[in-house]
Amino acid sequence: MFNLKNKVAVVTGASRGIGKSIVKTLAEAGAHVVCASRSKVDLESLSTSLNDKGLSTTVFPCDVSDLESFKNLIDETVNSQESIDILVNNAGITKDNLIMRMSEDDWDRVIDVNLKGVFNGIKSVTRPMIRQKYGRIINISSIVGLIGNPGQANYAASKAGIIGLGKASAKELASRNITVNTIAPGYINTEMSDAIEEKTKENLFNQIPMGRIGSPEDIATMVLYLASDKAGYITGQTIAIDGGMTTF
Ligand SMILES: NC(=O)c1ccc[n+]([C@@H]2O[C@H](COP(=O)([O-])OP(=O)(O)OC[C@H]3O[C@@H](n4cnc5c(N)ncnc54)[C@H](OP(=O)(O)O)[C@@H]3O)[C@@H](O)[C@H]2O)c1
Repeated sequence: MFNLKNKVAVVTGASRGIGKSIVKTLAEAGAHVVCASRSKVDLESLSTSLNDKGLSTTVFPCDVSDLESFKNLIDETVNSQESIDILVNNAGITKDNLIMRMSEDDWDRVIDVNLKGVFNGIKSVTRPMIRQKYGRIINISSIVGLIGNPGQANYAASKAGIIGLGKASAKELASRNITVNTIAPGYINTEMSDAIEEKTKENLFNQIPMGRIGSPEDIATMVLYLASDKAGYITGQTIAIDGGMTTF
């Protein structure tokens, strides 16, 4: 239904979890996908397994918190693939603690990866996308950026920041035929959510009207739609995919 043939996509945080599922979904729709995260070994194993199935992917190790590293990823993609049509800013980390106990380093690192990483991505693709007069930028925030969560002040601030950054850049880039949208996942079954304590998990699941944790594919399907030509009139939006958790 959504054809991404001849499109070139970059996905950050591609090595596992939600990012890995996004890579697979976009590649299955026909895009060439550049898989980016810090660990080359994990990226290569993902890329090889997908290419063995006839899909088209390459890898580029990158630390999203470093603007130069992100610029190299995009420059190299444009040089080798001749365009950059889709950017999915998915890389993210947690370093949880109550504010009283949160170190300055843990605050800085989460903001650097989760929020500055998205800024670095948008900044790096803006020029080539404007030149092409086409672009799809999709940022992965979190419902924690919408409703907050005790013990995650740094994460909540970074994810709320992504929502504002997405809206501002959507308004800046709309006239250039570049859309910018944000997805706010609820609790999704990945290594990140595995780290949550069992008791906290139980409490959280009780707050999900659908009564189940989400899957990475629930997020990847929305990314596919927003990345497609069919979503050309949607920009500046934040879409929660959370089993109804943030329904007021
Ligand atoms: N799982 C959930 O319940 C949930 C809910 C809401 C939002 N989210 C958001 O969804 C996104 C993906 O989460 P996930 O659950 O799939 O997480 P995950 O399983 O922990 O994977 C995180 C990915 O980000 C990459 N990464 C971390 N730091 C990076 C950096 N500095 N530069 C480049 N890549 C980096 C990791 O690869 P390397 O370690 O190799 O760099 C990995 O590929 C995150 O933004 C997260 O905040 C997740």
